[in-house]
Amino acid sequence: MTNTLADAARITEEAKQADAQGDSHKKALGEDFRTVGRIRVDKPRMRCTEVNVFYGQNHAIKGVSLDIGANEVIAMIGPSGCGKSTFLRSLNRMNDTIEGCRIEGEILLDDQDIYDKKLDVVPLRARVGMVFQKPNPFPKSIYENIAYGPRIHGIAATRTALDEIVETSLRKAGLWEEVKDRLDKPGTGLSGGQQQRLCIARAIAVAPEVILMDEPCSALDPIATAKVEELIDELRANYTIAIVTHSMQQAARVSQRTAYFHLGNLVEVGNTTQIFTNPRHKLTEDYITGRFG
Ligand SMILES: Nc1ncnc2c1ncn2[C@@H]1O[C@H](COP(=O)(O)OP(=O)(O)OP(=O)(O)O)[C@@H](O)[C@H]1O
Ligand SMILES: [Mg+2]
Repeated sequence: MTNTLADAARITEEAKQADAQGDSHKKALGEDFRTVGRIRVDKPRMRCTEVNVFYGQNHAIKGVSLDIGANEVIAMIGPSGCGKSTFLRSLNRMNDTIEGCRIEGEILLDDQDIYDKKLDVVPLRARVGMVFQKPNPFPKSIYENIAYGPRIHGIAATRTALDEIVETSLRKAGLWEEVKDRLDKPGTGLSGGQQQRLCIARAIAVAPEVILMDEPCSALDPIATAKVEELIDELRANYTIAIVTHSMQQAARVSQRTAYFHLGNLVEVGNTTQIFTNPRHKLTEDYITGRFG
């Protein structure tokens, strides 16, 4: 499925090299919240610099700088309330919809400042799509769930073009075979796992560059979860994905990089295998070994 043997070998080799450089033996102390690890990558799709998010007096994200690389899956982990959803939502300005929420700092999508006052958030949210914890299909047919976005964004000029987008998106989401004979039936009549893949197909239909996923499998059974995880791995060829998860196994299975958040700080970021086998910050180590969180 995901991380193949070749991947594992490569990652082990990278970890050994880091060891040789003495990197992995430096353990940052518990109270030191400066980010450990490489926050920048060679091919960033999104670049966050000194991002702060406030809900009124509550300082929820504290000076986070992080790149999200093109065609990577980055997992965001950390204890409940540490700011994962807040940070994820800041990447497509979903926080704008929350009363009293304020953001400082800079977030670039392909060199464009997404908080530029002149920027229209509607196309931004098509370029940076989102999949939520609870599958939320529109109360419309399966076909309309997918066709709605391309239609309002003017992506499909003809009915044939729209039909084609619906089919390709459902195929990419691994759902076509299961629904091709019932496209006119309500999306809400699908199983939970199918609904979540429908929501992923809906996000894909508007040709996004980045897909944000906030605990997309937490309402799914293990079989549906495995399907969504397989899908995430396939989507990486064409998209960049940031996924919040409470499952460390899931983070290890689907992501290449992992970011660990603690009390609004980005404490550590690195290659996923390194984070799980050789964390460099004490807080990351405590979390992954189950000492808290
Ligand atoms: N809509 C909101 N209004 C006010 N405060 C909020 C809002 N959403 C989140 N917060 C606060 O911001 C902080 C970070 O919350 P956030 O939801 O980002 O955490 P999380 O890491 O996603 O947690 P969980 O794992 O439980 O989903 C918390 O202190 C939370 O209470
Ligand atoms: Mg959350």
